[in-house]
Amino acid sequence: MCGIVGYIGEKNATPIILGGLKKLEYRGYDSAGMAVLMDGRIEVRRDAGKLEKLAALIKESPIAGSAGIGHTRWATHGIPSARNAHPHLSKDGNFVVVHNGIVENFLTLKEELEAEGVVFQSDTDTETIVHLLEKNYTLTHDLISAARKTLLALKGAHGVVMMSRLEPDKIVAARIGNAGGVVIGYGEGEMFVASDIPAILDHTRRVVFLESGQMAVITRDGASLSTLTGLPVKPEFHVISWDPVAAEKGEYRHFMQKEIHEQVRSLTDTLAGRVDWEDARVLLPSLNLNREIAEKIQKITITACGTAAHAGMVGKFLLEHIARIPTEVDIASEFRYRDPLVNANTVVLAISQSGETADTLAAMEEARRKGAMVWSIVNAIGSQAMRIADGCISMQVGPEIGVASTKAFTAPLVDLYLLAILLGDLRGVLTQRDRQKLVSDLSVLPDAVGRCLDRENEVLAVARALKDTRDALYLGRGINMPIAYEGALKLKEISYIHAEAYPAGEMKHGPIALVDKDMPVVAIAPQDLWYDKMISQIEQVKARGGVVVAVATEGDQRVESLADHVFWVPRVNWLLAPVVTVIPLQIFAYHIASLRGLDVDQPRNLAKSVTVE
Ligand code: G6P
Repeated sequence: MCGIVGYIGEKNATPIILGGLKKLEYRGYDSAGMAVLMDGRIEVRRDAGKLEKLAALIKESPIAGSAGIGHTRWATHGIPSARNAHPHLSKDGNFVVVHNGIVENFLTLKEELEAEGVVFQSDTDTETIVHLLEKNYTLTHDLISAARKTLLALKGAHGVVMMSRLEPDKIVAARIGNAGGVVIGYGEGEMFVASDIPAILDHTRRVVFLESGQMAVITRDGASLSTLTGLPVKPEFHVISWDPVAAEKGEYRHFMQKEIHEQVRSLTDTLAGRVDWEDARVLLPSLNLNREIAEKIQKITITACGTAAHAGMVGKFLLEHIARIPTEVDIASEFRYRDPLVNANTVVLAISQSGETADTLAAMEEARRKGAMVWSIVNAIGSQAMRIADGCISMQVGPEIGVASTKAFTAPLVDLYLLAILLGDLRGVLTQRDRQKLVSDLSVLPDAVGRCLDRENEVLAVARALKDTRDALYLGRGINMPIAYEGALKLKEISYIHAEAYPAGEMKHGPIALVDKDMPVVAIAPQDLWYDKMISQIEQVKARGGVVVAVATEGDQRVESLADHVFWVPRVNWLLAPVVTVIPLQIFAYHIASLRGLDVDQPRNLAKSVTVE
């Protein structure tokens, strides 16, 4: 989950690496560091805390050189501190390493190295890599062979980048397993390496992604790729078409706020080219789906983590109701070890913003091993979850930087709706009228989301009133039950308020005991099939003195008379309601965290891409 950037060329690596790290800070931000080759030495600067601290340190004690590597960390082994920050240097000062992932056999390696007299300077697992590299170099006298030998000794999943002052013309990068990507950027007389594309987009758009088990020897003129065992690999070039400006905050205070407001556009882009409005048909060519495959499917298992799993829970309703395919949703970290019952007639559908979440990738691999068809809905272009799937729907939302996911939640809701229509159509379970209605209901969606966004100030006023609450309860039913989970997750992850979500019908089996005047209850109650049930839940909360914040359909006087506060949403087809009901809850969480003066885009202990187990 850490971020990595490397540069080799003619320019000064220091500002390039710092700039790249800035773009990656969302990946981890408990410490940061960089190393450059300077006058024949490796100079390292690193510190605990955010990147500004590293930048200040470099200002105080400058470093410059035409090759360097940098790192922003999310701690796994060893507390966040300067000594545990990367890069890690070998004891002779000849080698330096940055790393993303966990060296699972680090204790054994460490014991072996300590028995040989190595004194460790940090508590990290990464330090074993650099000592091993130093040791292997004394045997091979060649960086590439020493790197291979070292990488082959590591268990677990990793992205690793190494440099040596003995061979200053190269940087070695490798990817083992699914601990996050390694992308190589091609410039003119300069080369880049990073864990994620945004880090290098200011400099180049021509990139190659390393697959698991591959390494690259990067010089300023290019890169030679091979497997760890030494077989040459032909690079597959990609040209990234995103606009890097999309990754800037613009007029907004935080990326999260900007990304919430981008949802009109991201949903318009999600629909663009995928709906034949005249013929009322859905087009998802990248899924490689035909009638024969569609008819073969007996079950869909959606697997994902965090916010993406909540999107999957909505997907269950859509796929079952529209396409009439039994669908289950499984948290990826559970699915991968559960010996799941899937076979060649099952589709395992992974949803992931980053496409690099370790548990989600492992769940996809488990599905593949068991012979299932593996599909994905993914945002990050070129990510592993996109590449290893048999078919993929690409979210059209652009880079998402805020750790709390927003636009990468609503886009897959629409993708799943489209998928359900396509499957229903191919399987012959939808009449033409059904299809026409389902498709035409989509056309008002971006506008409906826009209307929710226009009410930001109303939500802000409620956030002001409730910002000091200690707890909150979120209730929803049916297709909006996952929105209760998502609303509660948004609040807890960025405002550190304890927020619990429940299917509203379960309230009487426990959570009602928590309700008193200090417990705001957020009730998602649009006018849908579950409306009357939600009204009675609201009555029960009010009868116990609770404070009710309702998400309700515009003009609903019944809810207005009952609730203390209302977040109004426009009326849309109930199957699309989650796309609008979640918007005020995103805005609410954002403003509460912001009013509490918290770091909205980089909440404590979290990271945007969780590339470790
Ligand atoms: C982390 C992020 C969440 C995200 C989850 C899954 O926990 O903080 O926002 O929902 O990972 O990430 P993915 O990239 O697979 O969607």
